[in-house]
Order: sequence, then C-alpha cells, then structure tokens
Amino acid sequence: MPTTRSPQRLVVLVSGSGTNLQALLDACADPSYGATVVAVGADRDGIEGLARADRAGIPTFVRKVGQFSSRDDWDHALADSVAAFEPDLVVSAGFMKLVGEDFLGRFAGRIVNTHPALSPSFPGMHGPADALAYGVKVTGATLFVVDGGVDTGPIVAQVAVPVEDDDDTEELHERIKVAERQMLVENVGRMAREGFTITDRKVRFGA
Ligand code: GRF
Repeated sequence: MPTTRSPQRLVVLVSGSGTNLQALLDACADPSYGATVVAVGADRDGIEGLARADRAGIPTFVRKVGQFSSRDDWDHALADSVAAFEPDLVVSAGFMKLVGEDFLGRFAGRIVNTHPALSPSFPGMHGPADALAYGVKVTGATLFVVDGGVDTGPIVAQVAVPVEDDDDTEELHERIKVAERQMLVENVGRMAREGFTITDRKVRFGA
C-alpha cells in the first residue's frame, strides 16, 4: 500500500479500557508520527476507550450487534460508519468482535489487529489465560493484518514476553499489554510512514 496521504487516517475500534488506543493517541500528537486518529468506534457503550476518545476531542460511534436484526446488518452498519471517516488504516485495538465479509471486503488489507499471544499459538478471546494454562515460558503479542480467520492474518510484528512462575492471568496480560502497546505504536507508525506490502503472507514495510 503506497502512502498517499500524510498524515494517514486511522479509525480505531475498541471494546474496553482503550490503553492501546491511548498509546496511539499519544503517538499521533507528534506530527512526525505520520498518522492521526480520525474516529473511534465501539461495539458497546460506557467503556473507557470511548471516554479516552471524547477527552481527546475525537468523534466516536457505537454499533452494537443487538441493535441490528442480523450479524450481517451489524457488519454492514459498522463498515458504513468506519467508511464515513475515510480511513487509510483501520486499527482493531482490543475490539472484541470478529468483523464479517462486508467489512473485510471494504477495507481489505487495511485492517490490523493486535492479539495478546504469539500467533499462531493461542488464538481467540483468552490468549493470556490459554498461554498460562498451557505452561509456556514465553508468550507475547502479535500485530497482524486481519483476514477471515480468528487471529490468522499475515503478521506485521510480534513481541515476546516472559511468563513468570507466580503470574495469574491478569498480571500476565498486563505485562503483555505494556509490550503490546509499544509494538502497536511502532508498527502502525511504520505502516503509515513507509507503506507496506503483503506477499505470500509476508508483510514488509515500504511501498
Ligand atoms: C489487549 O491486550 C488486546 O490485544 C486484547 O484486549 C486488550 C485490550 O486492551 N484483545 P485495551 O482496551 O487496549 O486496554
């Protein structure tokens, strides 16, 4: 994807506390970062992620699955809401829903997601808990370009995080999130500034 606009326009999707969103907002405050968050979308109300966007003066929208008669209708409405902000990149940062075919088709190759595990291990909603239960000594986070699977898309970046003997899920997830935020900021910035290509699942920076 050649970089055509500067700064690149990011729409960020959230479902929770939004610390990854905050890391992006903080990075975008520096014009040399090369990207700006133009809107924040969510699948639920009353979350800190939306409050963070409000405090930053960034427009928000909420599309709840339950507001629509089918999952496809929700997907279509979510895609419309995102498209209205003309994003160059859609960043799913703790967004706890899988988007559908319509959404994927409209932003193909331009949606990234951050997952709190080292793909292809431990996909799905419980990455830190699953890693802990398995007994791995190292886990981490993965930034990938979203495809039709669950955490299966081409990998942009990964960061390793040690598992400590006395970790519980929350402690491990918090340690992962520190590394995850840094990985997200670094690599979304590079995607925005340098562009990127995907060939045979290999994501490379540069036009
Ligand atoms: C992150 O670890 C993300 O990968 C996972 O949920 C967490 C969201 O954290 N899906 P936050 O909302 O950005 O604080």
